[in-house]
Amino acid sequence: MSSLTPFKVGVIICSQRIPRAGPQITDFVVSCLNNTKLSAGTIPSNNLTIIDLTERALPLFDESGIPSQIHDPAEYDHEHTRAWSKEVSSYDGFVFVTPQYNWGYPASVKNAIDYLFNEWKGKAAMIVSYGGHGGNKASAQLRQVLEAVEMRPTVKMPALSFPDRKLLFKAAKGMDLGLMNADSEVWASDRAGIEEAYLELCDLLAAAVGPIAAKG
Ligand SMILES: Cc1cc2nc3c(=O)[nH]c(=O)nc-3n(C[C@H](O)[C@H](O)[C@H](O)COP(=O)(O)O)c2cc1C
Repeated sequence: MSSLTPFKVGVIICSQRIPRAGPQITDFVVSCLNNTKLSAGTIPSNNLTIIDLTERALPLFDESGIPSQIHDPAEYDHEHTRAWSKEVSSYDGFVFVTPQYNWGYPASVKNAIDYLFNEWKGKAAMIVSYGGHGGNKASAQLRQVLEAVEMRPTVKMPALSFPDRKLLFKAAKGMDLGLMNADSEVWASDRAGIEEAYLELCDLLAAAVGPIAAKG
């Protein structure tokens, strides 16, 4: 890959329930990523694509083989696995936007990870968690799993705490949190932390193939 080729980054909405807050929180995270400046004042030219696991309809893990031992997607039993393999293979890195469920991360994202191994291996990753207390327990567990599939997660893991119970309940009901409103103060002070973690992700992406491309 040329050093001027933009990296492809998949931004995974890790919650799958209906209703949910995940998509709007992911949009907020993407807005932070798009606002990040490299030291030269330029914007990383990564191509960001939102991946919604609800649209992948992966059943509970149903492959007969052990993914770490599969190097040719033709060896997978199921078309849904081959499709997921093709999609994950097409990205250089990932941002996982995950809620905390009962001190862990959602089972749906563990399921999506377990389907594959070599497609994740070596790729840079960043985790942004959210919850009543920011979801640190979920991100710590998810980080460990990403290391198990030999990804390279950032050290920084931004954690977004719902500022009050009213917002937590709105999120639980999938109501609009107004995060994208110009005058919204929710998580305004967390933007810098997300941008710092993203710069770390950019460094990890560049470390794999050369200096990060910039635009603007
Ligand atoms: C099954 C479940 C377990 C939850 N457990 C936690 C928890 O451990 N800590 C926390 O801060 N919030 C917890 N919550 C509240 C979530 O942070 C909140 O509902 C959030 O909106 C979930 O993200 P989602 O809407 O994208 O699914 C839980 C919610 C659900 C549905």
